[in-house]
Amino acid sequence: MVEPGQTKFQIDLRRHMREQGEDRDLTRLICEIAEASKYIVNSIRTGDLGVAGTSNLYGEQQLALDVLSDRILRKRLFHSGVVANIASEEIEEVISVDVESNRRFSVAYDPLDGSSLVDVNLAVGTIVSIFEGEDLFRSGRNQVAAMYILYGPRSTLVYSTGNGVHEFAMNALMEYTLVRENITLNSSAKIYSPGGQRNQYSPGTEAFVRDLEIRGAKLRYSGGFVPDINQVLMKGQGVFLYPHLNNAPDGKLRLLFELNPMAYLIEQAGGAASTGKESIMDLIPESMDCRAPVFIGSKEDIARAEMLVAQLG
Ligand code: F6P
Ligand code: MN
Repeated sequence: MVEPGQTKFQIDLRRHMREQGEDRDLTRLICEIAEASKYIVNSIRTGDLGVAGTSNLYGEQQLALDVLSDRILRKRLFHSGVVANIASEEIEEVISVDVESNRRFSVAYDPLDGSSLVDVNLAVGTIVSIFEGEDLFRSGRNQVAAMYILYGPRSTLVYSTGNGVHEFAMNALMEYTLVRENITLNSSAKIYSPGGQRNQYSPGTEAFVRDLEIRGAKLRYSGGFVPDINQVLMKGQGVFLYPHLNNAPDGKLRLLFELNPMAYLIEQAGGAASTGKESIMDLIPESMDCRAPVFIGSKEDIARAEMLVAQLG
């Protein structure tokens, strides 16, 4: 306990990673991404809304926030000195970093997930997946780290390098300081976030959701993947689904930029992530656009979803 007059020492992200004995290059990379997010936060807070393609007061061209966020992140990744290849949800092809670099890691990211929610002032986020080496088209099991930054009423950062899942919050000095270490999930969900139109659900998904409702699970869907997954992690239980739909058999979410990193974090916290048939992190992406259905969160519920999808489709 902190006594009056005593200050509680705050642990920032870099120090946390150092104390965990993390690789120095990986620490550098994750801290660069954290730095970039400070500029993204500012753009979200102060950027004019709905002005992409127009000029601002000073006659400067305005960029859509997602395009701007992409540029901010890309620049930092280029300058980190430890990145070989970059895949961004905003760019059609993999970019090879041509500045001098030791090319140890490759990074896939969604710079501003849920960007259409900015206009209605709901939470959005940045999602990042990190691989060692130059190849981004491997299964998610090969990730060496994953993280997201949530831009909500507060900005928080959650990362894992395979040594637990840790949460940091941005303080008044725009530093990320440790809030919670080693976040874990209970195996049974009391909240659920169902994406996709229900009248397009398969019988297995419909049975799964009906089951959750009968059990009294509460509906919690914001329309933003980052805040919805963050809620599951911070509440210590829950499921999120964006399943196979009759009119979209691969669902909506993208493997490289969205599903792999979130699956890594949720599995690290003791949860599971499945397409309904197999583990998300066993999928091998064929293209940057690769999508997959997803059931992710508390372990027992994901197993139940798999069982119902196997039985009923
Ligand atoms: O990037 C995709 C995304 O915006 C996610 O953040 C979110 O989970 C999902 O789409 C929401 O989709 P829908 O609008 O169909 O509910
Ligand atoms: Mn997205």
